Amino acid sequence: MKKIGFIGMGNMAQAIASGWIGRKLLEGDQVYAYAPHQDKLKKNAARIGFIPCREPGEMVAACDVIIMACKPYQIEGVLKEIGDRLGGKALLSIAAGWNYRKYSPYLGDSTRFQYIMPNTPAMVGEGVMLFEETNSLEEEEHEEIMELFRALGRVEIIPDHLMGVAMAITGCGPAFVDLVIEALGDAGVKYGLPRAQVYALASQMILGSAKLQLDTGEHPGVLKDKVCSPAGTTIRGVDALEHKGVRAAFIDAVDAIMEF
Ligand SMILES: NC(=O)c1ccc[n+]([C@@H]2O[C@H](COP(=O)([O-])OP(=O)(O)OC[C@H]3O[C@@H](n4cnc5c(N)ncnc54)[C@H](OP(=O)(O)O)[C@@H]3O)[C@@H](O)[C@H]2O)c1
Repeated sequence: MKKIGFIGMGNMAQAIASGWIGRKLLEGDQVYAYAPHQDKLKKNAARIGFIPCREPGEMVAACDVIIMACKPYQIEGVLKEIGDRLGGKALLSIAAGWNYRKYSPYLGDSTRFQYIMPNTPAMVGEGVMLFEETNSLEEEEHEEIMELFRALGRVEIIPDHLMGVAMAITGCGPAFVDLVIEALGDAGVKYGLPRAQVYALASQMILGSAKLQLDTGEHPGVLKDKVCSPAGTTIRGVDALEHKGVRAAFIDAVDAIMEF
């Protein structure tokens, strides 16, 4: 793999860089980063092992693949500063909403581009990385980049027009699941379990249920039915959730995001 440089080294860039360097997919001297607050950048560089740069132009000159990892509203300014130096480079962008169509007017023909949307579980190697289908990377380079991102979780190629709903599920979904963990925590505490322990129980239960579905490929309804024995306890809980409209609540949540 060539040299990769980050523009911005915040939460998500740190998760990606430390995933790659920590898992030895890249050596520290293959990873560069620029961010305005140099003290913070240098501390992160010492901790994670990448090379800090004083100027974005210096970083772009040293790298073959550039990852735009600053906030979406900062991108226009960054492109004005270094856009003309991106010729011949591959540009990956993880900034929400800055997709292939939005970047196109800013980039020259010789800049290859891919829009990628990771989620926060990438920080523990269990993320979902959505790759927008339309891209201008070379085939081999695309494969190599997908392989790198697989170190952070699951990579899925998504048709351009479905990126929004996929992001609603994988990007916003962790907050929905956190609500579930917190609510089960309150229920456990209500009946006497210590809070820290019930969070661990709930989180591991969700992790295990998700892994069971992924590993078996079973329909979630079939897995649910296997836990619900006739006249048993689980079906009583399922019944209570259905009365509260739990399925409609999750669909409404995605509707609310899509309407935004
Ligand atoms: N966090 C997530 O869950 C998540 C998930 C998917 C995608 N994303 C995307 O990832 C991007 C970064 O999110 P984040 O959560 O990592 O944000 P963050 O922690 O706030 O990091 C933003 C980074 O951008 C740097 N920056 C600020 N102004 C800059 C400039 N003019 N030029 C270059 N770098 C600049 C900041 O540097 P200083 O610290 O020195 O100011 C910081 O390192 C966003 O576009 C977001 O849409 C985030």
